[in-house]
Amino acid sequence: MTVELRELQWPDIEVLTALEEQLFEHDAWSAPSWWSELAARPRRRYTVATEADTIVGYAGLDCAGATADIMTIAVTPGQQGRGVGHTLLDWLMAQARESGAEAVLLEVRADNEVARNLYARAGFEHIRTRRGYYRPGNVDAHIMRAHLEDSHA
Ligand SMILES: CC(C)(COP(=O)(O)OP(=O)(O)OC[C@H]1O[C@@H](n2cnc3c(N)ncnc32)[C@H](O)[C@@H]1OP(=O)(O)O)[C@@H](O)C(=O)NCCC(=O)NCCS
Repeated sequence: MTVELRELQWPDIEVLTALEEQLFEHDAWSAPSWWSELAARPRRRYTVATEADTIVGYAGLDCAGATADIMTIAVTPGQQGRGVGHTLLDWLMAQARESGAEAVLLEVRADNEVARNLYARAGFEHIRTRRGYYRPGNVDAHIMRAHLEDSHA
């Protein structure tokens, strides 16, 4: 089965809200958060990855000039480790480049090794730490940055 990318649409919000609770627990985005994110298009750009019309992942970007910010990237629990994350990250980098950005920034939990490795292999470097940013648990946030001219995406 092939994974396809399409633009995230309003009717997807219910599914995404449920997935957020599984994937991000205390940091899950609520339906109103999704509504305001979609209302902020075209500055915000969101995609969903589907397989046989079922959502298997999603990602979003804020394009606001020289620096683009990755807002979110996630793959449904049963579909992780199959390359969907790579596909979504490639899409984010292509969108950032297309918007004219020179660099991409993101924030990741220090204890999220799978995500940190994915970003590092795509050319992201750890540039700053926000101590105890994620609560509960006081988990550090790592700010990572990739220069688009240096990346291989
Ligand atoms: C982080 C995430 C988006 C990666 O998506 P994915 O589809 O699982 O990743 P991929 O299959 O494209 O694999 C990416 C890399 O991670 C590795 N990987 C994936 N799952 C892994 C696991 N459970 N353990 C170890 N390595 C793993 C893959 O081998 C691959 O390595 P490679 O670059 O050497 O080929 C996904 O795991 C996820 O949604 N996690 C929960 C939400 C989250 O943490 N989002 C990021 C917030 S900053």
